Amino acid sequence: MTQNIRNVAIVGTGVIGAGWTARALAHGLDVVAYDPSPTAEAALRAAVAHAWPVLERTGLSAGASQSRLTFVSSVEAAVAKADFIQENAPEREELKQNLLAQIDAAAPAHAIIASSTSGLLPTSLQSLCKNPQRIVVGHPFNPVYLLPLVEIVGGERTSAETIERTKAFYQSISMRPLHIKREIAGFVADRLMEALWREALWLVNDGIATTEEIDAAVVYGCGLRWSLMGTFLTFHLAGGDAGMRHMLHQFGPALKLPWTKLVAPELTEDLIEKVVEGCEHQAAGRPVKELEKRRDDFLIDLLGLVKKYWPESEGLEGRI
Ligand SMILES: NC(=O)c1ccc[n+]([C@@H]2O[C@H](COP(=O)([O-])OP(=O)(O)OC[C@H]3O[C@@H](n4cnc5c(N)ncnc54)[C@H](O)[C@@H]3O)[C@@H](O)[C@H]2O)c1
Repeated sequence: MTQNIRNVAIVGTGVIGAGWTARALAHGLDVVAYDPSPTAEAALRAAVAHAWPVLERTGLSAGASQSRLTFVSSVEAAVAKADFIQENAPEREELKQNLLAQIDAAAPAHAIIASSTSGLLPTSLQSLCKNPQRIVVGHPFNPVYLLPLVEIVGGERTSAETIERTKAFYQSISMRPLHIKREIAGFVADRLMEALWREALWLVNDGIATTEEIDAAVVYGCGLRWSLMGTFLTFHLAGGDAGMRHMLHQFGPALKLPWTKLVAPELTEDLIEKVVEGCEHQAAGRPVKELEKRRDDFLIDLLGLVKKYWPESEGLEGRI
């Protein structure tokens, strides 16, 4: 059971696989990783080393060490002794279906197999597996070593036991699992983020605001509140003492106004250039690694603030 999960296998060690690796190592687990790219091992070790000072700030578990990471040269070797397997290969359905079947054929009977897919349906992902009951989606958020949310989504053939054990494992590595009870493409958080992303692209496309102006609107406006209260509770307060009922009464009619477009704009060369140039202007020559460090330090402080100002949320599944 969960308390016996000591060996974690990471299959695919790009941005997300490296994030899972760092989180698992920081919790004192043994990690065996595999990725077919010839440069993957060096990149993975560098990514873990880069995250380590940040993880030290959040507190390492007993026995946590970067030396608990082993890199191997096949999927079979990676999963042979695993208790929990996290798949993080590219977001291509057929590739994942075949890879999960390969993992399933080689993994010990008790092991759980989770996919980090951002939106593919677990029923499809488990379709080629001999033991589909142990296949589940565990969708994390970047940077995985810091952000607590992980969406758990079962397919038609995923067992209730797999969901429970997956939830318990993620909790044991300090995550906040949110069980999405109905399988839908994009799950919950990405659906929300995509809605905002589409609107932001339209605003740039139509020349209404720059990438920098839109980011300022999020950072200094909606985003600050969302960190603590999310969309619904934020609007509950927007209704004054009468809360959400008044808010819906007052602003409900505005929902009928065609403010939003919600259909993605065509990614024309012109739009791509505007978005890329805008982001480069905002980055002002600072490399991504430097911005990542700033983001990570900020996130640690922010998570501390959420804990401080919303202490009753501790231990509640999927709650802030
Ligand atoms: N980047 C994000 O913000 C994010 C967030 C949540 C979930 N995800 C999901 O995580 C998964 C990985 O995304 P990423 O951003 O880390 O991509 P990435 O491109 O950074 O990494 C993918 C890795 O998979 C490796 N790979 C290719 N073929 C493979 C195979 N057959 N077996 C094992 N590994 C293979 C590649 O060499 C590469 O290192 C995707 O399913 C993606 O949707 C991404």
